[in-house]
Amino acid sequence: MSRCAIHPSILSADFSHLAEELQRISNADAAHVDVMDNHFVPNLTLGLPVVESLQKVSPVPLDMHLMIEDPDRWAPAYAEAGCASVTFHAEAATAPIKLARELRVAGARAGLAVRPATPIEPYIDLLPELDMLLIMTVEPGFGGQKFLDVTLPKLRRAAQAVKAHGGTVALQVDGGVTEETIVRAAEAGADTFVAGSAVYGKEDPAAAIDALRETARA
Ligand code: DX5
Ligand code: ZN
Repeated sequence: MSRCAIHPSILSADFSHLAEELQRISNADAAHVDVMDNHFVPNLTLGLPVVESLQKVSPVPLDMHLMIEDPDRWAPAYAEAGCASVTFHAEAATAPIKLARELRVAGARAGLAVRPATPIEPYIDLLPELDMLLIMTVEPGFGGQKFLDVTLPKLRRAAQAVKAHGGTVALQVDGGVTEETIVRAAEAGADTFVAGSAVYGKEDPAAAIDALRETARA
């Protein structure tokens, strides 16, 4: 695998010490930041003011995962804040092509996410507009859930499509990624791995990142 990126999710970090928690994962490729609005998913996390503050102190790029309704309205501000990538949900966006273009113009990589039961086929033609495809491997909303193996065939189909497109689009998985499940996700073609509890649930998050990277590459 040429690309292999580990993006720890700060959803599993200590929210009262986020700056320090980011320092603990300085060997990561990016920090995955989950924005939840209590509408698209039944949970509420953080929003733009907190992200703007994190952006100033983070030792690694910020990878935004917006689990929100109306991303057409809210997502561009995260790109303008300097976040490296901004991923919005296909199920929530009204005009995904327009939105992806706006994100790129604002200097971010544009990502499109799909929930476990959302087919990927309707979005394959959008690949030229995207820098990342996120296949959710749990129902979005909470950390610490079990990896859904039922998503693996879709992941394989997405990997084929990404390859046929030239391999420029990163293929991310998010949810239930552990030292065990990362093997199956990597085999199916994922190259960017979000891990919350499997990183911050460990005593040494930096060592957990190295171990996940090594396992995925093996
Ligand atoms: C869930 C979030 C994930 C979450 C993953 O909706 O999108 O990023 O933090 O947590 P783990 O790795 O514990 O499943
Ligand atoms: Zn996420």
